[in-house]
Amino acid sequence: MVLSPDQAVRYDVRNGVAVLTIDFPPVNALGAPMREGMMLRLEQAREDEGVDAIVLVGANDRFIAGADIREFGKEKVGPSLESIQEALETSVKPVVAAIDGHALGGGLETALAAPFRVAASRAKLGLPEINLGLLPGGGGTQRLTRLIGPEGALDLILSGRHIAAVEALRLGIVDEVTDGDVTEAAIAFARAKAAKGGPWPIILERTDKVTGTDPKIFEDVRAKNAGKWKGMVAPFEIVNCIEAACHLGPVEGLEFERAAFWRCSDAPSREAQVHLFFSERAAAKVDGTKGVAAKPIRSVGIVGAGTMGSGIAMAIANSGIEVTLLDSAKGALDAGMERIAKNYATSVARGSRTQDAADKALALIETTPDYAALANADLVIEAVFEDMGIKHEVFRRLDAVCKPGAVLASNTSALDIDEIASATGRPQDVIGLHFFSPANVMKLLEVVRGDHASPETVVTAMAFAKRIGKQPVLAGNCFGFIGNRILHRYGEEADLLLMEGATPWQIDGVLKEFGFPMGIYLMRDMAGLDVSYRVRRNKAATGALNLSADTYNPIADRICENGDHGQKTGEGYYAYVGRNASPRPQVEAMLAEISREKGIERKAISDEEVLWRILAAIVNEGAKIVEEGIAQRASDIDVAYAHGYGFPKYRGGPMFWAAQQGLDTVLTKIMEYQARYPDRWQPSDLLADRAATGKGWEG
Ligand code: 3HC
Ligand code: NAI
Repeated sequence: MVLSPDQAVRYDVRNGVAVLTIDFPPVNALGAPMREGMMLRLEQAREDEGVDAIVLVGANDRFIAGADIREFGKEKVGPSLESIQEALETSVKPVVAAIDGHALGGGLETALAAPFRVAASRAKLGLPEINLGLLPGGGGTQRLTRLIGPEGALDLILSGRHIAAVEALRLGIVDEVTDGDVTEAAIAFARAKAAKGGPWPIILERTDKVTGTDPKIFEDVRAKNAGKWKGMVAPFEIVNCIEAACHLGPVEGLEFERAAFWRCSDAPSREAQVHLFFSERAAAKVDGTKGVAAKPIRSVGIVGAGTMGSGIAMAIANSGIEVTLLDSAKGALDAGMERIAKNYATSVARGSRTQDAADKALALIETTPDYAALANADLVIEAVFEDMGIKHEVFRRLDAVCKPGAVLASNTSALDIDEIASATGRPQDVIGLHFFSPANVMKLLEVVRGDHASPETVVTAMAFAKRIGKQPVLAGNCFGFIGNRILHRYGEEADLLLMEGATPWQIDGVLKEFGFPMGIYLMRDMAGLDVSYRVRRNKAATGALNLSADTYNPIADRICENGDHGQKTGEGYYAYVGRNASPRPQVEAMLAEISREKGIERKAISDEEVLWRILAAIVNEGAKIVEEGIAQRASDIDVAYAHGYGFPKYRGGPMFWAAQQGLDTVLTKIMEYQARYPDRWQPSDLLADRAATGKGWEG
């Protein structure tokens, strides 16, 4: 539905105060009709003789979620945000922003141009533009810095975090917080101000919080984050703008910010991060389930209080949901609870959680050795050892005690979800919930749909993931699902590169340079080489892996057979002193030996070839996953890789990266590799098809 400006912002007068209600679904973004509506209504209020003051309020359960992201990269029509802000800042009648729900980005920037702000206690405020590769370009870097000082502005804008109304009050961003109706409170506030008379405060004219700022705070922030921000544009521009707010006048400061905003906007990272924003939202949707309602989840049982079970318990309790943690091993429950308590104590000490919030979450977790305690759970998540026999035993017991309709989930990382479901008489209620370690931290949650899972079970699992703050991605049932299947494939390619002449540190260095937080060999050392060794032996025993194939690199097996299991034993691909890794000459010698055995002449491999072979392997496998219907859409691969596998967010994910290179270019590379290694490389049909149409993944 297209709204007209007078519908997008409604007007009514209460007690001599004009109430401008922004009603621009879904999130009151600052789209063209809404901006036009604001100008129209501000003018109406200015001319209305029965009006002494103005209140801005949002419908749709929020104030304003920011600029309309759908307009990015398109030609702007209608009045600018700047002209609205000018009208607010120069209004003769006092304006109060009544903030409920979210005031984000351009939304908070609108409120900062008004002389006064009243917030509901449940409101959340923030300048999250950095997550879109942008900076707050509606005067946010200038006004916030002048209002709360550069340190506070650096923290809020660089983190992009949403703060609660009480914190906003403490920082001086809002003037009043109410537990009651925010519109009523704002009307009363506005009437009092109008009665007292102007002039009204203008944030841009304040200098008290910026005078005498030590330039070292900016140098320190740049130096501290140089590595983390490598390849990004927005964070550096944000620091420059906040610094500018400390020594430039209001007009020059706004000009400086505007120029910096356009530099961010023109950078490829902006397009990539906006792609990820919409992809994250698309990933949470399940095709073909319109009208299917999610079941409410009020209490959750977890079976297995080990590494994953205890992390999952925290993730759920953090969202205010009751958890019953069950384990069969003596001492495992106490150990699990100890791990949980220690984790909370660390976050309190670090300042990332208050003592009160930690106590509340801990109080929501109960322990039991008894399956009967799970009888009323709406959802049970199994996180026991990765063994089909044990999983079957657990699911049989759950089937016997759980109430009808309860969702029964497994956290398995590799086992067949249909086979797990077959242990129950209710496979329609069984689903995979594949959390990532540490489960209380990692955002990605793969929801694995078996053949028999009902649409209601799938929708419930996706909604539950969102409720506990995770990013769901729906996956079909196959070995490794989406994420690990791709990881496995690109790991094979990296191992092949090692046999041809590359080293683990070269490959890790290339991946790090590209923006991954760490390379694959460091990651393997961290995870422990013994675990994957056992998996490979089991696969070889069933014939699923040929250990003597020409393209099979036995390097990991040989390191492991020497008794080196990675970081935990001090040596793996690398040698460790604490967490500091250094290259091991022995590994290079082992690689030389392997190449000799395979009859491969080692040669120098360029960093460019390393990067392309690894990324092309990711993209080709990703395309096969979409083609087979394991993932719903190519952008789901981007979301999974950005949130669970360290793919740099500012590059938008592997499939987006491929589209940026040109799918035909990627296909040509893959065909080149296929000619060299026909048993390793078969181009995906979907990739070939999309490369031919030239229209990107959505074709
Ligand atoms: N513009 C356009 N559409 C938006 C939007 C925006 N700013 N924010 C959300 N939407 C859309 C979503 O795409 C989604 O659409 P869909 O239903 O078709 O998928 C719908 O609104 C609902 O969004 P969510 O599913 O995310 O709803 P939630 O209730 O879970 O979250 C929210 C609401 C916290 C507001 C979240 O949507 C959000 O964080 N939005 C982005 C906020 C933001 O980044 N603002 C800054 C924008 S940049 C800016 O302001 C530049 C300025 O400085 C000049
Ligand atoms: P873990 O060994 O730390 O914990 C397993 C727990 O299950 C132990 O406390 C054990 O006592 C308990 N348990 C075993 N059999 C049981 C039974 N019959 N009834 C009740 N409790 C029982 O294992 P971890 O690492 O937590 O893994 C659990 C599951 O999560 C596995 O399926 C694993 O593949 C999967 N997973 C693991 C990840 C990781 O990084 N560790 C990541 C994602 C999934």
